[in-house]
Amino acid sequence: MSFYETLANDAVAAIEDAADVETLDGLRPTLLGKKAGLTSAKSQLGTLEPDQRKEAGQRLNVARQLVEAAFASRRDALAASARAEALETERLDLTEFQSKTSPGHLHLVTQARDRLEDVFVGMGYTIAEGPEVETAWYNFEALNIPEWHPARGSFDTIFVNLGEPEAVMLRSHTSPVQIRTMENQKPPIYIIAPGRTFRTDTADATHLPAFNQIEGLVIDRNITMGDLAGTIDTFVRAFFGEEVKSRLRPSYFPFTEPSAEFDISRDDGSWLELGGCGMVNPQVLRNCGIDPDEWQGFAFGFGIDRLAVMRYQLDDIRELVNNDVRFLRQF
Ligand code: PHE
Repeated sequence: MSFYETLANDAVAAIEDAADVETLDGLRPTLLGKKAGLTSAKSQLGTLEPDQRKEAGQRLNVARQLVEAAFASRRDALAASARAEALETERLDLTEFQSKTSPGHLHLVTQARDRLEDVFVGMGYTIAEGPEVETAWYNFEALNIPEWHPARGSFDTIFVNLGEPEAVMLRSHTSPVQIRTMENQKPPIYIIAPGRTFRTDTADATHLPAFNQIEGLVIDRNITMGDLAGTIDTFVRAFFGEEVKSRLRPSYFPFTEPSAEFDISRDDGSWLELGGCGMVNPQVLRNCGIDPDEWQGFAFGFGIDRLAVMRYQLDDIRELVNNDVRFLRQF
């Protein structure tokens, strides 16, 4: 082995031995710097005979390149493993935290709302939304409840102190989303609109001042009361089970004509009132720029919280908002 190759081999061995980037960098002056063997060998080339000088110079260059390459690749490898090690030790280990606590679950009302959405989306409906603070036009007027109408009082509305008296309010039902949808979409329309609603009710075993409703609206050609009854029946059986029946009872809402209340059958043979429904009043269609001679439809609305109360057989609706984990954990 020539002198240059021996120098190079020793240098490469020292490079491979370096255990970290700092040690390797510390070797650089002795292996490749001014005082390195391979560097001083270069200045000694001048002492050789001219015909030997060329060949020796080439071998010296090859040796030097070998050491440079070994240095660079060792340095890359050491830097990469140092980085990997740092990532490993600095990583936050969250698995321990998770295993000590239970993961929790969605609130009962959220679960009920999600299931309702699934049932109706499966029937081809899409989900619509509207604001929780409404104007009198959307909450009442467009729904055929003018200012003088006695039904206006029955909604126990919470007004917001903004503009004219009683001009702005927390929506007292989800029906304003019917109007907003018909203003923005051309029929045919098949939507449901779940959301929060508010009334001045005092909280008791069956009432909450802030509660949730789900609205349904269908506008299409040749829609009849039979479609409404069939839709409610299909939904009730999908949500509560095949054995549960539904029935419609005549009722009154200014925005539907005819109107009905719908009930579902209970195990003991009695009926439980779930919500209101009816054929969309032609005046409401006209208020939204839809021609009632061409389009008809039905609407329904009911409370989601009451549905959860029934489904989980709670004896007090206030349990839903007390947020007692001992209660919530049971479901
Ligand atoms: N908005 C009515 C209520 O809150 C329910 C309803 C909706 C009735 C749609 C008919 C049609 O009491």
